[in-house]
Amino acid sequence: MRLTVIGTGYLGAVHAACMADIGHDVLGVDVDTEKIKALSEGRPPFYEPGLDDVLTSALASGRLRFTTSLREAAAHGEVHFICVGTPQQPGSQAADLRYVDAVVDGLVPYLPVSCLIVGKSTVPVGTTARLAARIERLAPEGVRAEVAWNPEFLREGFAVEDTLRPDRLVAGVTSREADETLRRVYAVMLEAGVPYISTDPNTAELVKVAANSFLATKISFINAMAEVCDAAGADVVTLADALGHDTRIGRRFLNAGLGFGGGCLPKDIRAFVARAQELGVGPAVNFLDEVDEINQHQRTRTAALARHLVGGDLTGRRVAVLGATFKPNSDDVRDSPALAVAAALHRQGADVRVHDPEGAANARRAHPELRCGSDLLEACQGAEIVLHLTEWGEYREVDPVKLARVVREPVLIDGRNALPHDEWRAAGWTVKALGRPAHSDRPSDARTRNPLQATIASPAAEPIRA
Ligand code: UDX
Repeated sequence: MRLTVIGTGYLGAVHAACMADIGHDVLGVDVDTEKIKALSEGRPPFYEPGLDDVLTSALASGRLRFTTSLREAAAHGEVHFICVGTPQQPGSQAADLRYVDAVVDGLVPYLPVSCLIVGKSTVPVGTTARLAARIERLAPEGVRAEVAWNPEFLREGFAVEDTLRPDRLVAGVTSREADETLRRVYAVMLEAGVPYISTDPNTAELVKVAANSFLATKISFINAMAEVCDAAGADVVTLADALGHDTRIGRRFLNAGLGFGGGCLPKDIRAFVARAQELGVGPAVNFLDEVDEINQHQRTRTAALARHLVGGDLTGRRVAVLGATFKPNSDDVRDSPALAVAAALHRQGADVRVHDPEGAANARRAHPELRCGSDLLEACQGAEIVLHLTEWGEYREVDPVKLARVVREPVLIDGRNALPHDEWRAAGWTVKALGRPAHSDRPSDARTRNPLQATIASPAAEPIRA
């Protein structure tokens, strides 16, 4: 099928390459000429494991091309996928739909024949219906452009895998033809047994925000438990393991630590609250404000713990931060909890050196005031405290004995509860983590109560906003 994919960010670039990979004739479109040039040459404009291979082979097959022209896209596509960003509006909680609207405005007047326009971006419920009216107004005489919503659930770091082998496909359609068209697009996946849920556009739009709200709630739930564990001298990791054995709960997304960030979860839950308020059901999702608040609080707690561990004053203290991206296997630093903490420590006077294997350049752009690089030993040289804030696999491979020789004080905060604490302690490190007793390798009881609780939960701690 002839498809266009409009918007070549994390979502669109992967979708375009994967649709070509499964046999479609794909035209990727973006307003950013640099991005289009890079993609046309087989260079992904961001770090995403496996994307370069799929991109290279799709380009070589001749089934994937890129352009900056929406007119060319209008002429090419039987199906047009909208994959542009829907960021948070400046000064508001709501989603900014200007890029989605711009695609419709730039594409629809040039459509030569009837076609299907499929939104994949995360949007407030009701967007498909609003766009349908806009499209009808803009469409040339005799051309019918139906709009459907087919939300994308891919995770950064697993984007190719999630696109080629999704957990489920959700299609929000208003006609049988649209449903059949989408089934043809995804025929390979349907044959492989991927569940396909066909529904109305409102439900499809809601599935995406509800899924992200649930995931965010799960993370904030376990982080709230971590705070209780700190007060009670209990261990949040053991708690999560024990909870996770209940298949109704499940262990995934119960990793306590610095909380969630990125370009999706934080802004999606805020936009959902804003949309629910518009619909007159704000109180039904008020709890998401708490979810957001608990999430932000982990950043504050982590920064306060660092300040406490260096003796209460960060002025001039050398701090090493391991990780800048919002999660491992990505170079994305949007609303990164790690960078938010690094920036807060810098504001409090610390001399902060940030390390990240892939995200250093983006981190420098987002926070020019921070020193960010990709040499781990350099970042840790002379550090009085090391904060592990993004759980890249390579940090688990670090030899704590060797690192102890480089730093000035072997003090570690494991903000992701992902390092082998007993090994680090055996190498002479003082190891602290939110929600863990002072010696988490021992059974927890009142004697191992975290003595820092009063300090790190103090309301006087500086709140951190990204
Ligand atoms: C998320 C959704 O998972 C995905 O389905 C949707 O399409 C886009 O938003 P992504 O933003 O790539 O994907 O990252 P995800 O893996 O969900 O992690 C989000 C954040 O939560 C990260 O900052 C991660 O570190 C944090 N997280 C995740 C936790 O703090 N604890 C956990 O247990 C899991």
